[in-house]
Amino acid sequence: MNLFPLRKLPVQLRLLYIVILVPALILGCRSNKLTDYHERGAIACTSPIASEIGRQVFIRGGNAFDVAVSVGFTLAVVYPQAGNLGGGGFAVIRDGTTGRITALDFRERAPRAATEEMFLNEAGEVVAHLSTYGARASGVPGSVAGLHELWEEYGSLPWGDLLTFAARLADTGFLLDEYLAKALESHRKQLQGFPETANIFFPDGRQLEAGERLIQKDLAATLQQIASEGPNAFYHGRTAALIDSCMKRHGGLITRADLMDYTPFWREPIHFTFDSLNIYSMPPPSSGGIVLGQILKILEPYDFSSYTPESPEYIHLFCEAARMAFADRSAHLGDPEYFDVPDGLLNDQYLAARRAKIVECRAGSSVEIQAGNPIHYESDQTTHYSVCDSDGNMVAITTTINSPFGCKLVVAGAGFLLNNEMDDFSIKPGFPNVYGLVGGEANKVEPGKRMLSSMSPTLILKQGQPFLITGSPGGSKIITTVAESILNYTRFDLTLAETVAQPRFHHQWLPDMIYLEEGGFDVDVKQTLIRYGHRIRERSPFGDLQMIAIDPAGLLEGASDPRHGGAVSGY
Ligand code: DON
Repeated sequence: MNLFPLRKLPVQLRLLYIVILVPALILGCRSNKLTDYHERGAIACTSPIASEIGRQVFIRGGNAFDVAVSVGFTLAVVYPQAGNLGGGGFAVIRDGTTGRITALDFRERAPRAATEEMFLNEAGEVVAHLSTYGARASGVPGSVAGLHELWEEYGSLPWGDLLTFAARLADTGFLLDEYLAKALESHRKQLQGFPETANIFFPDGRQLEAGERLIQKDLAATLQQIASEGPNAFYHGRTAALIDSCMKRHGGLITRADLMDYTPFWREPIHFTFDSLNIYSMPPPSSGGIVLGQILKILEPYDFSSYTPESPEYIHLFCEAARMAFADRSAHLGDPEYFDVPDGLLNDQYLAARRAKIVECRAGSSVEIQAGNPIHYESDQTTHYSVCDSDGNMVAITTTINSPFGCKLVVAGAGFLLNNEMDDFSIKPGFPNVYGLVGGEANKVEPGKRMLSSMSPTLILKQGQPFLITGSPGGSKIITTVAESILNYTRFDLTLAETVAQPRFHHQWLPDMIYLEEGGFDVDVKQTLIRYGHRIRERSPFGDLQMIAIDPAGLLEGASDPRHGGAVSGY
């Protein structure tokens, strides 16, 4: 079905296409639709530029996997808050030809030299910011290997062509939107702590305003090398050497051997049924699929017909289910190569027993543990994108460098930010990470291990056919955001546009608190929840849903969360 495969075009036409398209994007000729319908292919993504690049790849005959790869690299340029070469992620995909659904794990790994005590001082106390800021916070990046693996297995256009857009946007620059300008301002002090980072994002020490151009020459060169040499350029070649010297200069632990060792894994997705739907999400080392499954399966027998998505009775039931699921997360989930994740976490009888503990209209109580730090509010800086095409290929990718701009350190000469994913480990038993999540043995730091994640790229089939793709950033709030998106669309019959916009709430066992999006819930809802015995706290908006729904006739409807200025595009 490839109408105009790029590789079949003469070289001059390929060049013309790049020469015309990229300047158009740089000048801002792009669609910014929050919802849209398409027939051949659709993409929902947090960046309008990346969304437009995805559309162009579709137009040139690319399939959903080609689009996903191209968008992934474009996000590394135009959305440095979270898009990345220096991070990792997960993809849950459906191959339209075979109908097979699989999960790709390109999560970062702890370097070989990592130890359980690496973030503690001699007294065994956590050293402030060591797991979040600077080289030591970084795990071995997986994104370049992951996107290449996805392309190798399922892509149809030439690899190099899929990176050309990103490389050109880095080289020529693009116009900052208000979100990136604001994010740079909020993180200015930490970003300027490293000259190699400051030189790129604060040229001549200046704060870039929205509408100004961000040029990233080193990143362009790195992308060009990956385009022509493949992932070896990153894991063995010049970039590996640059990462190695960056680590030596800044006291990080990643070595060339760590980089050479990195491989993505194909895994069986977590699969469960909810109502009549078949849901597929990410298995460990993400907690996403299991925690999502527990929440939805615990709620499944309840009759919601008299509730709305804002009914206190529903919010209460959801939060009690989430409380139990997150308690299991803390004890039972970690990298399956290092820790035996127990069977039965999605067992019907087990979940029935958990459900039996829920009392309607009365809050349960989370076990008190010595944690201390209040949850630390970061803006949502992972990113999710969904892609689907008319051949039944579905791609849900969530990718991250963890905090906004990761560990804030750019690899000098290579032009990209490194992640601070080491903070997703339990750096000391019971000590909360930046999302307030606590853990222990299952998720302790070990050499080569993948840190536990909450990322939940999710695909849903209805009667065997593609039905829904969903996912979001938000740290621990990813899982509840995704669960709410599924309930809002399937149980409460909201439209897709309403689903992504609907106010959200969150509970994660510890702290024992319901978080509500500020301004999203009426005062009587809040009072009722308090009367049930819940502690509530309002906070700034969270999550950034990027969803695609497929109707029985195959029409693709995309919706991008209005909170973050994303866009749906397609063809
Ligand atoms: O893997 C995880 O669960 C986290 N590193 C995700 C971070 C995230 O979603 C950032 N957005 N708030």
